[in-house]
Parts: sequence; structure tokens; C-alpha cells
Amino acid sequence: MSVTPTYGLMPAHVAIIMDGNGRWAKARRRPRVFGHTEGVKTVRKIVEGASEIGVKCLTLYSFSTENWTRPKAEIAALFNLLRQYVESDLATLHEKNVCVRILGSRSGLTPDLLALIKRVEETTKDNTAFNLNIAFNYGGRDELLRAAARAVADGQDLAEITEAGFGAYLDTAGLPDADLVIRTSGEKRISNFLLWQSAYAEFIFTDVLWPDFDVSDLEAAISDFNRRERRFGNLDQSEVA
Ligand code: IPE
Ligand code: IPE
Ligand code: MG
Repeated sequence: MSVTPTYGLMPAHVAIIMDGNGRWAKARRRPRVFGHTEGVKTVRKIVEGASEIGVKCLTLYSFSTENWTRPKAEIAALFNLLRQYVESDLATLHEKNVCVRILGSRSGLTPDLLALIKRVEETTKDNTAFNLNIAFNYGGRDELLRAAARAVADGQDLAEITEAGFGAYLDTAGLPDADLVIRTSGEKRISNFLLWQSAYAEFIFTDVLWPDFDVSDLEAAISDFNRRERRFGNLDQSEVA
């Protein structure tokens, strides 16, 4: 008999800063890109595992607006890995009823990548089992500026707009806020990720490097999330009589 494990309350939206690929490769005396290639294997495992655990929305940070400062060859490799991942996994993701969204700026992306992004988003847009967001060419500040520009172009008065109204112009429109943000590799910073959406997220930092991260680490993070008391500015529950 198989027993379905319980993890308590499931975060509505798990977001992961997938960090440490370069150090993982360096420890093996391999080029950094080898670490990124291994990282894609982890992406596949975690997408699969997260949906089995019962997570409904997962965002993976894979290329930041600041990552343009890296060597050209590494940038090209990261772009190729995104392309290969989407091309090879699109059919399976669609079959599994996964809605895929690529968060981030479209500027600086080549026409073929833009076409591929359009294809994956259009193909999967009505899927309902799981939301997979890949933050690529993404920066939280950039997203906020693009959202403000779009709202204005839409005739919105920014002096009057509500938080929900503004949220509708973000790349994550229609999705819940991130309530669990995990960062691998021991770094303890947000690096311009989901600045608006993580306003009340719980943060979990693990020393595990992204290529070594597995479903048990995700489960541990969710258990930790369940032990946190989320107050949202209110008082400790024992004090609310
Ligand atoms: C994360 O791994 C992937 C990206 C930022 C694209 P890194 O490439 O940042 O790996 P480290 O931090 O140098 O080990
Ligand atoms: C954050 O990792 C971006 C991604 C994981 C895509 P970085 O390695 O680029 O972040 P910093 O430079 O350590 O802040
Ligand atoms: Mg890094």
C-alpha cells in the first residue's frame, strides 16, 4: 500500500532562486556551463516532484537582468539551455496539463526565442493542473517598471490604482503571491527576484547547491514553512483572544 505523505499546509506558490551551478561545477573541476546543464536535470526533477507533492504554482529563477554582465559564452549557454528545455519538454508538460509562463522582459531576446516563448505560452495557456513559471531575463525592478508603463498605456491612473489592480499588470497576473521562497547555495539575498510578490513570503536558505537539490530538500523546505508562524502584521495567535 502506498501512503501519501502529508506536509501540512501547502504553500500556494513556491519560488526558487536556483543558485550554485557554477560552484558545483568548479568543485568537480568542470566548466561552469556543466553546472548549468546539470541544473536543468534538477529542474525536471523538481517540477515533477513539486506537482506530485501537491504544489500548484512553482516559479524558477533562471536568468536575471543582472546576469547579462556574465561572459558572452555563458549567457549563450544559458539561452541555449532554456531553448532546449522548452523544446524537449513542451509536449510532456502540455500532456500533464501544465500551464507554462516565462516571466521577464522580452527585450534582448532573439526572434527565435521570442517565437518559442509565444508557442509554449499559447499551447499551455488553458492548462490547469500546475503553473510553471520560468523567470528568464527577469528582474523584479524591471517587472515593476514594465507593469507601471503598461498600466499607464492602458489609461490607468497610477495615483488611484489599487494593489490588486496593479498586480494585474505584473508578469504573474492572476497567480497567487509567492508564499515560500527558497534559495540554494548558501547565499542569503533576494537578487532582484519577485520583489512585489514576495512581500510576505517565508524565506528558506539552504547550503545545497542547485544541481544537488532534490525532492527531499523541497519537502524539508515545505515542512519548515509549516513550522513558521505567519502573522502578516497581526499579533501572535495566543494573544488574539
Ligand atoms: C545559478 O548558478 C544560475 C544562474 C544564475 C544563471 P550560478 O551560475 O549563479 O552559480 P554560482 O553562484 O556561480 O555557483
Ligand atoms: C540569482 O543568482 C539569479 C538566478 C538564480 C537566475 P546570481 O548568482 O546571479 O545572484 P548573485 O549575483 O549571487 O546575487
Ligand atoms: Mg550564483
